[in-house]
Amino acid sequence: MIPIQRFALSFLAGSFAIGSGLLHPIDVLAGEVRVYSGRHYATDRQVFKKFYLETGIVPKLIETTDMSIIEKLKREGKNSKADIILLVDAARINNAAKAGLLQSYRSEKLDKEVPSKYRDPKGRWYALTRRVRIIIANPSKVDVSQIKTYADLADPKLKGKVCLRKRNSPYNQSLVADQLVLRGEVETRKWLKGMTSNVSEPYFPGDIALTRDVARGTCGVGIVNHYYVARMLAGINGSRDESLARKVKVITPNPAHVNVSAGGLARYSKNKEEAIKLLEYLASPDGSRGLAGPTFEHPLNGYSQAKELRGFGSVNPDKVTISQLGEYNAKAIRMMTRSGWE
Ligand SMILES: [Fe+2]
Repeated sequence: MIPIQRFALSFLAGSFAIGSGLLHPIDVLAGEVRVYSGRHYATDRQVFKKFYLETGIVPKLIETTDMSIIEKLKREGKNSKADIILLVDAARINNAAKAGLLQSYRSEKLDKEVPSKYRDPKGRWYALTRRVRIIIANPSKVDVSQIKTYADLADPKLKGKVCLRKRNSPYNQSLVADQLVLRGEVETRKWLKGMTSNVSEPYFPGDIALTRDVARGTCGVGIVNHYYVARMLAGINGSRDESLARKVKVITPNPAHVNVSAGGLARYSKNKEEAIKLLEYLASPDGSRGLAGPTFEHPLNGYSQAKELRGFGSVNPDKVTISQLGEYNAKAIRMMTRSGWE
């Protein structure tokens, strides 16, 4: 067993290269599971490795950007080799389910590990990690004490000071869907109108670029996912970003919009049993913490205690379910477009 394990480990490392289609006798011996992942975090590999060591099942990770996973699966159809699909954001995982790319299944373990608001009522996907959409502000540009909720960004006092990521980002689509569920159509429309009329900078391509501009004072206030700021603070993007992130004040609305990364069983999975085992592992306290720790996300239960998150305030997730975010996605996009959100 020892020589096989040693061999499998080196194979495992190789199989993590993008799109590697290598085959090896260990596949036959221990089983395998092919993962199409839109979680482009190198640190996920450690979690897959741990799963292999516990079960002998070899996960083969195929990383690609989220939209191309969905396109890839549609193109591959019945011939797809995917067993598991991992995607970030409620809108994406719900869209994959709607497009018939996932299959329903029931697992007692998953039903136990994943709180019901974080899983598909039809059993097509389960959340694995959580992320919070936070407000960031530059205290030299705005009165931070006046900003507590997403709604506050519509305040006319913030004219010319609000910066937003582009409408096509699912993160913002899910935030708007969240507000639609919580506050209804009329209030959400007013909020969108007020907030977009406070925007003067061109809409941003990503959360990191937006954080940098809030730090530099080009923007007074913006909305991003919490882990981008944490990663900058941790120095992962270099020392320049680290010092920029220090200039930003993080405001975690109470309650906050919480989004997820999630996994589901691919419709044409050929290794169903192994795939469910891997999903159960990823959603377990060990697996979820393993995924969330290095990326500064939060696990499914409890919250990251990373020192970079200490100044962010505590998280109190609002009552909106991930499935509701999917239901309201199309409407959210329509309303964003009408409000002038570019
Ligand atoms: Fe992200």
